[in-house]
Amino acid sequence: MAGRIPRSFIDDLLVRVDIVDLVDSYVPLKKSGSSYVARCPFHTEKTPSFAVTRNKQLYHCFGCGAGGNAISFLMDYSHLNFVEAIEDLADFVGVTVPRDSSRVPEKKNNVSEIFQVLEQVASFYIQQLRENEAAKTAVAYLKSRGLSGEVAREFQIGFAPDSWDALLKRFKTRQLIDAGLAVSKDSGSAYDRFRGRVVFPIRDRRGRVLGFGGRVLDDSLPKYLNSPETAVFHKGREVYGLYELLSRNSKPERIVVVEGYMDVIALAQFGVGYAVATLGTATSKEHLELLFRFTSEVVFCFDGDKAGREASWRAVISAFPSLRDGRQVKIMQLPLGSDPDTFVRERGLVEFEGRVVSAQALSEYFFERLSQGLNLDGMEGRAGLVNKAKAYLQTLPNGVFQELMLEKLKALSKLDKLDFLEKPTTLKHLRHKQQQEDTKLSPVRLVITLLLQNPDLIEVFEKKEIKWQALNFPGIDLLKKIVEIIKQHPDINLPRLLEYFRGQDEEKYINIMMNHDFFVSGSEIKDEFSGAINRLIEQGIEQRLDELIAKERASGLALHEQKELLGMLAKSVRK
Ligand code: UTP
Ligand code: MN
Repeated sequence: MAGRIPRSFIDDLLVRVDIVDLVDSYVPLKKSGSSYVARCPFHTEKTPSFAVTRNKQLYHCFGCGAGGNAISFLMDYSHLNFVEAIEDLADFVGVTVPRDSSRVPEKKNNVSEIFQVLEQVASFYIQQLRENEAAKTAVAYLKSRGLSGEVAREFQIGFAPDSWDALLKRFKTRQLIDAGLAVSKDSGSAYDRFRGRVVFPIRDRRGRVLGFGGRVLDDSLPKYLNSPETAVFHKGREVYGLYELLSRNSKPERIVVVEGYMDVIALAQFGVGYAVATLGTATSKEHLELLFRFTSEVVFCFDGDKAGREASWRAVISAFPSLRDGRQVKIMQLPLGSDPDTFVRERGLVEFEGRVVSAQALSEYFFERLSQGLNLDGMEGRAGLVNKAKAYLQTLPNGVFQELMLEKLKALSKLDKLDFLEKPTTLKHLRHKQQQEDTKLSPVRLVITLLLQNPDLIEVFEKKEIKWQALNFPGIDLLKKIVEIIKQHPDINLPRLLEYFRGQDEEKYINIMMNHDFFVSGSEIKDEFSGAINRLIEQGIEQRLDELIAKERASGLALHEQKELLGMLAKSVRK
């Protein structure tokens, strides 16, 4: 692929990615205070001094000094050049890299065209459900499943006519194929993917249609058909019903995860407005991270059959790395043969919610399941339990929850020492060392460092009257540059700022400065910054004073210089 990658794309990529997720997918991280830590992948060490910080979107090794943003990480870790790293990162985020060449507009339009056609097709399907004579059986089917018109409207349920070209007649073939709505044949022709089905649009959090699920009206197979992965639809990252859920309540106390479209809709119909479904795939870590952005409790409620039980276990295991303190996962088992849809229909809202509230805690579920078939009265059984639990517990982030799980394991195994989970050293002492070095920072370095780490301090900066020409010492040019960039991009953050210096002489200094930890926060940062600028200005004045006095002694001053000197002396006397 030729063409330059637009700067705006790189900016955007760094806004979208979470460096903690990215690094964690290569080097499993554990939470430690406000950072995530691991043994450094860039040098050999026994205890972790490699830290990734979410709010800064940076990584840093206190041991070997490696550090940078998401792009630097991929370059260093996977030995990629800059462009390759961007491509990998784009893959990770699920976007395509545009180029400043002729291909760009085409690519860009493509995505918005896909969204457009999906939206139009969704409306077409809704209209078909209402108006098409042939949709009568679909309406009857929905009614037979107890759905009201209101819920059907809320979920924008539609009907795909039983025809090979209902869409092809109305929309552009290329766009339908790109949107996953038409299937292309080897012969070059194409046909509608969804035919004679009730369709459920899958929407993202912004309400944009990404794809559809479609159910047959009888017993034919496959029962459900789903849109394939497309440029806009990634099943591993989306859940069905989240948009509808969040439109009802943006901060739900809990979210129930079920298996099917109809479960979500039936639950909503019966008053459980906080359910979502994975899209015919297993519950992934990404799914959970997504849900935990909106709630602190996730309840798995899968079908009461063997497949559902297996799905619960797999979901629990994939939840482990996401179980930071304050997040809870519970498991709600349904009677054999029930799914959430049939259960709420047969037993009603109160009983369903009763079960939600008393769902089993993950810790209990986990050990119960692991202990199955083991005799915990004997040494052998208990050792077996520890062995089985080990690998899973190691994937838990450090914290209260991990401690609790360990306590449980100790109690169950009757072992009071489980040393397989060595506590990673806290980064405190390493930070302390650095803190002592911080006090030696010169005013320029302090200003640059604070500004790099908190670009919104530019507001403080602009309130001060800086006479650049009076500031004539090392570091000022770099400061000027940074100020310019921030002014042009007021919403910039450090990882994006770094990109402006990649490959430049200043990169080295920037890398050192970005990693200083300041142990001040909030308004203290402002005060610290304001003070540093004042010292900078004073330093400028002193330097100029020295200069003028030296010149006066050596060769005498011109009239304007005399005035300047007197003015400066007067000011410093007044102070
Ligand atoms: P289920 O078969 O449990 O769905 O599959 P359900 O909601 O209980 O079905 P009905 O409508 O009440 O009979 C759960 C989910 O698995 C995916 C779908 O996402 C479905 O909602 N699935 C199932 C498919 O993708 N294809 C299939 O053929 C079946
Ligand atoms: Mn089911």
